[in-house]
Amino acid sequence: MSDLLDVITNLAKRRGFVFPSSEIYGGLASTWDYGPVGVELKRNVKEQWWRSMVQCRDDVVGLDAAILMAPDVWEASGHLATFTDPLVDCTVCKRRFRADQLDDRDCPNNKKGCEFTEAREFNLMFKTFLGPVEDDTHVVYLRPETAQGIFVNFPNVVTTSRRKPPFGIAQIGKSFRNEITPGKFTFRTREFEQMEMEFFVPPEQAGEWFEYWVEERRRWYVELGMKPERLRIRPHEQDELSHYSSETVDVEYEFPWGWGELEGIANRGDYDLRQHGEHSGKDLSYYDQPNERRYLPHVIEPAAGCDRATLAFLMDAYDEEEVRGEKRVVLRLDHRLAPVKIAVLPLSKNPDLVPVARKIADDLRQLTMVDYDETQAIGRRYRRQDELGTPFAVTVDFETLEDQAVTIRERDSMVQVRVPISAVGEELGRRLQA
Ligand code: GAP
Repeated sequence: MSDLLDVITNLAKRRGFVFPSSEIYGGLASTWDYGPVGVELKRNVKEQWWRSMVQCRDDVVGLDAAILMAPDVWEASGHLATFTDPLVDCTVCKRRFRADQLDDRDCPNNKKGCEFTEAREFNLMFKTFLGPVEDDTHVVYLRPETAQGIFVNFPNVVTTSRRKPPFGIAQIGKSFRNEITPGKFTFRTREFEQMEMEFFVPPEQAGEWFEYWVEERRRWYVELGMKPERLRIRPHEQDELSHYSSETVDVEYEFPWGWGELEGIANRGDYDLRQHGEHSGKDLSYYDQPNERRYLPHVIEPAAGCDRATLAFLMDAYDEEEVRGEKRVVLRLDHRLAPVKIAVLPLSKNPDLVPVARKIADDLRQLTMVDYDETQAIGRRYRRQDELGTPFAVTVDFETLEDQAVTIRERDSMVQVRVPISAVGEELGRRLQA
């Protein structure tokens, strides 16, 4: 399946997972919109992350900080000075490339040896203006990471949540980077969503918490059904480390084009709290009363990309098999991630079947995401639901009118069982939780 990227891009468009942004105007480069089922899948990814990182833990709390922040934040964090990529221009086609991504002196566009300009550093932050005056004193930036909103709120959260290190602050939200070479569908875009958590610890505990979070985060992907053999942990080389990090590993997934980063786990030391303390003049240290000592907590940061995780779950779940001489495409998504959990399908548009099926769908909607579909032959409707990854289909047929029972079909095995209408909700609720 070397063309899996094309297959997934087509499936995503055809079934309503992901559309090219502004498509009726010819699209906007590397910008994507999540459609009716894609938004559900992505919401489920975020919900599972929040559940595992915040809801089910006593030592992590949430935050939702603004995208626009005081420009001093980016001065202090080092992003204004160092959040750059080396950029070169091809003197023939005038296209721009990242100097560190050119394998040799061949232009990726012209496919031949070309002259390139000298590399210069290009800051990846998007700039805009606060208010109506467009001058240097009104410049603000769209945040390139959600992390800084967490660091600058550290004292607010400590005071209001009564947490003490080791504890974490988690946040999900949009980030923006003016990437020179975006691409590979939703893998690298200029607008994307991050799921980041900053875990503040006493300095001497940083090493053990780093190990803990690497394993914990790998486990999260596997528990949600990602194939372990397509995941690996890759430590950064010394020259790869970000300006703030003393140690980083990436959780990588084997995409059709090779290994790609899903998430980075970094030991940021006390870099951020120290920088913000110095630049703001506010004391961001923590006073450990029982031990009568004051210190700047060190930070372990698991930073994941929501769009990348969503893409990896989608690709990992994709499967093709032959059923009675025909190709069946099925997304074997974990039930918790599946955009639609139950499809309710009357055998036909027969006026006796439709109201019964609609009533079942309306009742099940109280429980979970349901898709009601009465168009086309039943076989084609099963295929459509398989391509959406819907774990269960409930079929209402003419026997239903006699025995008040329906057929439940399971996505992966295609096994069908007959269940009384009165027990459908309980039966599916139980199976979806299993
Ligand atoms: N606060 C640390 C930080 O932002 P990062 O490794 O630059 O670290 C974290 O970003 C995650 O955000 C990455 O592992 C990736 O999943 C996602 N990400 C970063 N840049 C992205 C882009 N241009 N498009 C999509 N996702 C991106």
